[in-house]
Amino acid sequence: MSQRKLLVAGNWKMNGSQDFTLNILESLTNKLSRSSSDIAVFPPYVYLSLAKERLKSSAIQLGAQDLSSQEKGAYTGEISAAMLKDIGCKYVLVGHSERRAYHHESNELIAKKCLAAYQGGLTPILCMGETQEERDTNRTYDVITQQLQPILEMPEVLESCVLAYEPVWAIGTGKTATPEQAQEVHHFIRQQIAKKYSSIANKIRILYGGSVKADNATQIFNMPDIDGGLIGGASLKEEEFVFLCQINKA
Ligand code: PGA
Repeated sequence: MSQRKLLVAGNWKMNGSQDFTLNILESLTNKLSRSSSDIAVFPPYVYLSLAKERLKSSAIQLGAQDLSSQEKGAYTGEISAAMLKDIGCKYVLVGHSERRAYHHESNELIAKKCLAAYQGGLTPILCMGETQEERDTNRTYDVITQQLQPILEMPEVLESCVLAYEPVWAIGTGKTATPEQAQEVHHFIRQQIAKKYSSIANKIRILYGGSVKADNATQIFNMPDIDGGLIGGASLKEEEFVFLCQINKA
């Protein structure tokens, strides 16, 4: 059995309100007080403080959906790692495919953001994954290799990271990778790390993301190299998210 504890991370994306934040966190804290998995929620920036207040005495952790690669200064609209730490975040998503696609974030910028998160005392959740076209033309492993490469140059940052394999074609589409497809890529990621740093490879958590729901999560989370999930749509539905947080690895 793997020594790695499952992590279930709920990425709310650009959804929610003050009421939604208070209501869902009230239910989650009540229903998940004895979960054996690590749990984290990722509300939009403007609701983080409210969420922190609500989660005060709960084991559920807080994360942000992005951060600046810069430490501080004249960067209008940006949020730094220190600010996120200051308001009680533990995690931060880095390199989500929606940031890569809509904000043209490069692998280099993403590596800088991981470094900024690490230096600011946050745990980066570094996301990676191929598009449908890349999969169809057998480039999945090339893409993953390129996305991993910059972080492999920074072992101390890598060690602090959680990774998330999120095939772009499975995000928000209802089309999930089969447990075997996901396991194959997770295994590949772990092998790439093991070539350079075997002790990190065994310890690092690799989450799967892309249309994870109550009816497919148990099988996915039970694959040997999968250590939990990064959940979008289903994290907005209280009952479904509670179910995902209660899955035990056999
Ligand atoms: P989804 O999103 O679960 O809605 O597919 C996952 C993600 O983007 O993190």
